[in-house]
Amino acid sequence: MVLRNVSINVKYHSWLWDAVRNIMFLAALPLIFLACTDQRPKYVIGVSQCSEDIWRNKLNDELKIGTYFHDGVELRFASADDSDEKQIEQIHQFVRDGIDLLIVAPNQVATVSPAIDEVFDKGIPVIVFDRKTNSKKFTAYIGADNFEMGRLMGEYIATQLKGTGRVLEIMGLKGSSSAIERHNGFKSALKVYPNITLVASLQGNWTEESAIKAIKDYQGDLTNIDFVFGQNDRMAIGASKALLQPNTKYCGIDGLPGEGNGIDCVKDSLLEASYIYPTHGDEVLQLAMNILEGKPYQKENPLMASLITRDNANVLFLQNEEMVRQGNNLDQLHQRSDAYLKQLGNQRIVLVLAIAFIFLLLVLMVITYRYHLQKARIAEERTKMEREQLDFYTQVSHDLRTPLTLIEGPLSQLAETKDIQQAGAEASGLFAIIQRNTHQLTQLINKMLNVQASGSIDDMTASIQESIPLESHTKTAETEQPYAEDLSTVLIVDDNADIRAYLRTILQDRYQVNEAADGQQGLAIANEIVPDLIVSDVMMPVMNGLEFCQRVKSGTATSHIPVILLTARALSQHQVEGYESGADAYITKPFSADVLLARIGNLLKSRIILKNLFGVESNKDHEETSNTPQTIIKEDAFLLKFCDYIEKNMADSDLSVETIGAELGLSRVQLYRKVKALTGQSPVELLRTARLQKGRELLQNTDKNVSEVAYEVGFTAPSYFTKCFKDEFGISPSDL
Ligand code: FRU
Repeated sequence: MVLRNVSINVKYHSWLWDAVRNIMFLAALPLIFLACTDQRPKYVIGVSQCSEDIWRNKLNDELKIGTYFHDGVELRFASADDSDEKQIEQIHQFVRDGIDLLIVAPNQVATVSPAIDEVFDKGIPVIVFDRKTNSKKFTAYIGADNFEMGRLMGEYIATQLKGTGRVLEIMGLKGSSSAIERHNGFKSALKVYPNITLVASLQGNWTEESAIKAIKDYQGDLTNIDFVFGQNDRMAIGASKALLQPNTKYCGIDGLPGEGNGIDCVKDSLLEASYIYPTHGDEVLQLAMNILEGKPYQKENPLMASLITRDNANVLFLQNEEMVRQGNNLDQLHQRSDAYLKQLGNQRIVLVLAIAFIFLLLVLMVITYRYHLQKARIAEERTKMEREQLDFYTQVSHDLRTPLTLIEGPLSQLAETKDIQQAGAEASGLFAIIQRNTHQLTQLINKMLNVQASGSIDDMTASIQESIPLESHTKTAETEQPYAEDLSTVLIVDDNADIRAYLRTILQDRYQVNEAADGQQGLAIANEIVPDLIVSDVMMPVMNGLEFCQRVKSGTATSHIPVILLTARALSQHQVEGYESGADAYITKPFSADVLLARIGNLLKSRIILKNLFGVESNKDHEETSNTPQTIIKEDAFLLKFCDYIEKNMADSDLSVETIGAELGLSRVQLYRKVKALTGQSPVELLRTARLQKGRELLQNTDKNVSEVAYEVGFTAPSYFTKCFKDEFGISPSDL
């Protein structure tokens, strides 16, 4: 049993472990799903700016707006703050972090070029913009033609000065391609104007301060300067602040929108002219996407520039304001769509989690259901095992108690026999029973000890049952005289022949004994002879004692018969079963012969429940009855029916016991035995008593004469009525 429990537990644990593992896997599923749906950018683009100023900020903003038109693009910005070293390091860092394309404006040509070459050599596409490298290792260039811009500015100034005047140039950062090219272009334009003097080309670094400093540091003659060409607007403004000559005119490059910037300065006459140096960040990004997506692109991508003078500054200013406004609108739209997308993403996460949760809940429900099923199954198995155990012990105790009864009983009977020699045949019969059952008991115990090692209750039960001889099953039960007036009849029902023989020796002196070997035989005999009492075993083949008892108690002919269950089933639970089947007494084996006899005696006495059915004197024992109320009510009902029929039909002189029996569904014998048992009188006697009682009543209360009354109550001769009347009441009917 222990082993069985252990195996159940092991099964249970491995099953539980499986369930937990499954739940963990299922719980991980949504996370895996979310991880899979996490959108990593398709392309990472590094933007390496040589410095940070409004021109580059504008370009960066345009690049960002450009990404709105392409999915899965991430821009990473870095500004070198005009430092070559910093820019080189930032480019290296981009490569280490992993970029798909590099957009770069090299601070100075010679120093930064090798780092850009390295990137290109690694197979990463490179777009050079605004400024150039000194190598061919780049994928594409995009930007305005700085030489041409310098040249156009030279032309513009020469025209403004009508070919004569003093001109000062403030150059951008030394070594940057745009500064070199603008200078070359400017000089080439002025070459053809001999009366225009380029007083100096001072070195700045694209900032306003650098121009101021360059002028202040300049040792030469800077008087009477007619025109200053700043290579960008910021330096032109710086020069105006440093020179402070009222007649000097200034022009620059960049032409940026916004307050204080190029266009605004031309509009406000701080600058004479400026040149729009195009940023076009959206075009730069489109070029990058074409390269990344393998679409066709140009290696050289010149951006168109245009001159700003006082004539068009206002229009450009307004145009730019409109562009900024539209740009802001676009930005807002993008932010809103971004928020919607984010919301959508969150909703998707919530949805996935909700589905996962519902799924887990379902799984949990299934697991709980299965757990309960398992529990119920285990409980059922346990109950089954307990039942098997109980059956086993019941069987064993039955098999032990039967021979014990057959040893103990006959022994005490023999002990009471004064002269065993004289007891003769009966004594030797009892000795034979004792001997047989002692042997059987020994065999039984040996068998039990031998099979103990086999372990299984089933094997043990089978083995023990094998050792019980069923010698009695084939024996036919003996039936004696159906009914004799003097002795009460007891029917013994037991499958063990020795028990039947022993019971017979106990009972035969006082009762007429009949035997049956199982419930079925017992029922047939009980119906045939209607005994006064039945003693029955419970564990019997064919029909057990409980069923037998039930059927006795529900048969019309036999329902009144007291049944004693004599059995090895000693547990209170078994006794309850016995009483529920309708038994009147329950005696366990081994039993005392005296107790059995006393119980039989009592039950027989208390059976006679109604003696004065028709005015006959009451039996004293009636009050001592120990019958259950149900029995009395049931039997009263039978008797009421019986009396009722007699009363209604007593005038019929042919009324016979057979007719009454047929009316009540009983044979003549059954009716006789039942009525006798319940009333102490035979049906014939009761019929005569009823007729005489009625006759007496008629004589007392009517004017009818004796003859008339005699015929009315079913007597065929008035003289016989008179004789019987005298016998019954001690007076003659004519006296009434
Ligand atoms: C911005 C800037 C502009 C100039 C350009 C030349 O950093 O200095 O003002 O036009 O770079 O590369």
